[in-house]
Amino acid sequence: MFRLRFLTAGESHGKALVGILEGIPANLSLSSEYINRQLQRRQKGYGRGGRMKIEKDSVEILAGVRWGLTIGSPIALYVQNRDWANWQKGMSVEEADKGSIDPVTRPRPGHADLPGIIKYNQRDIRNILERSSARETTMRVALGAIARRFLEEFGIEVGSFVTSVGDVEYGVDTSLLKDKDLKTMALKAEDSELRCPDPEITAAMKERIDRAKEEGYSLGGRFVVFATGLPVGLGSHIQYDRRLDARLAQALMSIQAIKAVEIGDGVRLSELPGSEVMDEILPPVDGTDLSSVRRPTNHGGGIEGGMTNSMPVIVRVTMKPIPTQRRPLRSIDITTAEAVEAAYERSDVCAVAAAAVIGEAMLALVLADAFLEKFGGDSMEETKRNYEMYRKLSEKG
Ligand SMILES: Cc1cc2nc3c(=O)[nH]c(=O)nc-3n(C[C@H](O)[C@H](O)[C@H](O)COP(=O)(O)O)c2cc1C
Repeated sequence: MFRLRFLTAGESHGKALVGILEGIPANLSLSSEYINRQLQRRQKGYGRGGRMKIEKDSVEILAGVRWGLTIGSPIALYVQNRDWANWQKGMSVEEADKGSIDPVTRPRPGHADLPGIIKYNQRDIRNILERSSARETTMRVALGAIARRFLEEFGIEVGSFVTSVGDVEYGVDTSLLKDKDLKTMALKAEDSELRCPDPEITAAMKERIDRAKEEGYSLGGRFVVFATGLPVGLGSHIQYDRRLDARLAQALMSIQAIKAVEIGDGVRLSELPGSEVMDEILPPVDGTDLSSVRRPTNHGGGIEGGMTNSMPVIVRVTMKPIPTQRRPLRSIDITTAEAVEAAYERSDVCAVAAAAVIGEAMLALVLADAFLEKFGGDSMEETKRNYEMYRKLSEKG
């Protein structure tokens, strides 16, 4: 990150999650209600485990906002873990509470459990799983909501929809979708328990999850995150770490269980001739304004040479199945090294819909960072002035 930076802390069954976001200009209106709406979106989704019923996440803004406006200082957030009451001794910071719950000793394949205990020299897997858990993404969604609020001020919107659950697919050619098509799909996705714009495919996805649940295994899936209304020139071609596609890949891949990130048509591009995958450039709609050139297609997902090109940014994301499964996998007990079944703790069967909301948060954070890198500003007024000036420059052609 160049202009924004953030950190999160907190264990899954610890007292709370905390986060700090630095770099948001002063005078942005922000409320905890706004952030809570995003937290609630993350908690939805067919196929989630019991945890989501316990946790009704709600944020407290501890710093960085006064009388409804940011003041330029770091914004600090706090989300309490509602389940804390049951874990006060088991996750206590006090030495006196040591041993109040049994250690976890059977690492789950596909989790951080085994490499984590070896790397951190631990004998209780709980010391690893508490932090590797995707509970941490609650705070990312909260911080991402601030980035989203910032982007809104410039007409930039971020959304998502799910394109597959296991082998049930919602096939869509994103290269032909314009801003309004994407927004309509995201709106429809909001009404689906699996964030899929098509009700019939949603029903098929739910059935697929029911079957997996019955048979004791988990499922992965794929989703699309997108952003509309972006100016040309976020990110840069001049250095490897400034390329927006690279920044998005890192940010989205950092979400637990995400195993592939594609920009635009991604993998499919390799199968087609070059004549079919470049997005041709047609004369501007608006006189000589180069930023309003038309593109009949968007195979490139709105990014060329590591920079936005005014088409919607489209990222396709692939999630593996949830590692913890009712029908346990083979593992060992770390105290005896003997073969046992992997540990099972209440778990999601499929969390693709939630992952899409987390993906939106990461997309918003990367775009807000790239936007501020380009336009700077310590107050919203200054950032807006810089942005308007830049737009005028391209109008001259
Ligand atoms: C929204 C979301 C919910 C998840 N829920 C669970 C879960 O309930 N049980 C589980 O074992 N893994 C769950 N995971 C996946 C694990 O956190 C993840 O696979 C693990 O941390 C190992 O990381 P890796 O898959 O990226 O290697 C979830 C991931 C996400 C994004």
